[in-house]
Amino acid sequence: MKALILSGGTGTRLRPLTYSNAKQLLPLANKPILFYIIEKIIKAGIREIGIIVGDTHEEVKKAVGDGERWGVKIDYIHQPRALGLAHAVKMAGEFLGDNDFVMILGDNVFNMDLHVLINNFYSNQANTTILLHRVDNPSQYGVAVVKGGCITELVEKPKEYISDLIITGVYVFDKSIFPAIEQTPPSDRGEYEITDAIQKQLQMGGKVTYELVRGWWKDTGKLEDMLEANRLILDELESEYTISDYPGSSISGKVVIGENVVIKDSIIQGPVHIDQDAEIINSCIGPYTSLGKRVKVEKCELDNCIVLNGTKLIGINKRISKSLIGKNVSIIGGINKIPLMSSFFVGDDSQIKL
Ligand code: DAU
Repeated sequence: MKALILSGGTGTRLRPLTYSNAKQLLPLANKPILFYIIEKIIKAGIREIGIIVGDTHEEVKKAVGDGERWGVKIDYIHQPRALGLAHAVKMAGEFLGDNDFVMILGDNVFNMDLHVLINNFYSNQANTTILLHRVDNPSQYGVAVVKGGCITELVEKPKEYISDLIITGVYVFDKSIFPAIEQTPPSDRGEYEITDAIQKQLQMGGKVTYELVRGWWKDTGKLEDMLEANRLILDELESEYTISDYPGSSISGKVVIGENVVIKDSIIQGPVHIDQDAEIINSCIGPYTSLGKRVKVEKCELDNCIVLNGTKLIGINKRISKSLIGKNVSIIGGINKIPLMSSFFVGDDSQIKL
């Protein structure tokens, strides 16, 4: 069995961060989303992984490498344009050959073991097995209608309600998906949808089974979902720090502190993840916050935040909450002596709520 991860696409809903970063490399608890997916695949015993890459291919290859660090083989398949998930699978035809394969969308995170899905696929002799999840707002996803352990109908982003079971973006396929893809026309939004290809596979007599998410699952395509996924992962942290290294500060809850971190006169309320070389002075951090490498926070209060490498937050007199702040950003309060004046040097598509 092989695995395919889809890391093409543009990530428009996470702009401006995705102007300069692949959305699949944004960090949760200071680890790129893609790494969580790769580790899940390896835990399921799969050693050959293909990653679909698009415009951000250089950044993804640099961050992930050839798989050596995990002792597996990682190949890259270039998809020149994001023409849809079924198109991405077709591009991977040569890499996948006749093998069964697990496919995971590169912005999905979940804490469930892939064995459950793979066992279902083999024990039911299915052609496709999909991980489904029950949600309140199914219309923005692919949805599935089920009967007696099998899926009987699939629709991508249905205009009218047909089911509250959504397709998560975690699938197991056999090679019969390829002829189904060949017979699938583009959808109204102009993409070759994998959902439509699986529907075609059903019409061609294929057997499609499912498992429901156990634990949690998140598509990290939007800001609120990134922050929620960060919270879910931070909740599973095991504390890693030595309290005596930080005299004069109070640290409680689940907290991970990397090497060469300086914390002075501060309160850290876990779950919090602080990466190496960060500096926290006279501040309150947490809960549910991750600070990247070399982040400097002074005289600030933060909760429910993801702050990327090299950013400085200094002297901000309001609590910063529910924020995703990019790399090497400087936000400095109290520099303007003239009352009621602020100054900004902010990139396209940024959002500032004062
Ligand atoms: O998150 C679950 C949903 O994911 C499913 O319910 C839908 O059935 C499925 O179509 C998909 O919908 P999205 O609209 O959320 O897909 P998105 O365009 O965000 O792409 C998902 C991932 O696949 C993302 O990491 C980018 C990558 N991708 C996307 C396209 C369109 C590619 O690698 N190539 C592509 O051509």
